[in-house]
Amino acid sequence: MSEAKIIAVAGKGGVGKTSVSAAMVRLLTGTYPDKRILAIDADPAVGLSTALGIEPGRTLDDIRKEITGEVTEREGGGVGDILESVKGRLTQAMQHTGGYDFFAVGRPETAGCYCAVNTYLRQVISLLIHDYDYVVVDSEAGIEQVNRRVLEKVTHLILISDASKKGTQVIKTVKAVADELVMYEKCGAIINRVTEPEAMEHVDTGGIPILAVIGEDAGQTEFDILGKSVFDMPDGAEILQGTKKALKELQIL
Ligand SMILES: Nc1ncnc2c1ncn2[C@@H]1O[C@H](COP(=O)(O)OP(=O)(O)OP(=O)(O)O)[C@@H](O)[C@H]1O
Ligand SMILES: [Mg+2]
Repeated sequence: MSEAKIIAVAGKGGVGKTSVSAAMVRLLTGTYPDKRILAIDADPAVGLSTALGIEPGRTLDDIRKEITGEVTEREGGGVGDILESVKGRLTQAMQHTGGYDFFAVGRPETAGCYCAVNTYLRQVISLLIHDYDYVVVDSEAGIEQVNRRVLEKVTHLILISDASKKGTQVIKTVKAVADELVMYEKCGAIINRVTEPEAMEHVDTGGIPILAVIGEDAGQTEFDILGKSVFDMPDGAEILQGTKKALKELQIL
């Protein structure tokens, strides 16, 4: 069995991570109907399910809480057993629609510590990679999940930025942290929501190869307002074309 391709999408808040992740799911399912594809919404603020047009369902955090409760009652159980149990329940809880599976990490209700679910996520990903050919991870904005090595097993790190200096600074930081903490095979950037081609003259990714440049798409805004899914978009939509180009550059498509 070939190793799964794990594509993590990261970058500053609001730059298009979820839109690109959803576009990837559509392109992968359309191109590889017989492959096993998993989409993970790793952002506690959620959004990928909406972009895909599905219900989020039970989350990894819901399952973590159930199991934590049970383990405390029973006293014990090895870490391996617990993880297998998490994986089993997660597989059951997952949405299996339209040629891919989906789960969200969910948002812990208690203020503050999001690290417990992040640790689960990292370990669950390392178990799940054996069951899938492609895994798309829509990460939380910023560097936290890279810092916590949630993404330690990725094969492709896709960094999304707009043309702003802040955006490219974030992807440079993510890359620098990933270079220290994450094993990845390939890393590249997508510059999204570019209103004028001239803006690209000022975009400095610090050597991260630019896989695609995506323009500001009025159609996307309309889809957003109507809450429509990526599967309803026309083939020619900027985000689909740009994401396709990026995946081709990486030889994933
Ligand atoms: N190329 C584009 N043209 C027009 N609108 C876009 C484009 N890409 C993304 N958007 C819109 O920008 C907003 C933010 O996009 P998205 O939710 O994908 O970003 P994000 O990086 O996942 O944000 P967050 O950090 O909040 O999770 C959304 O309303 C989305 O529809
Ligand atoms: Mg998002």
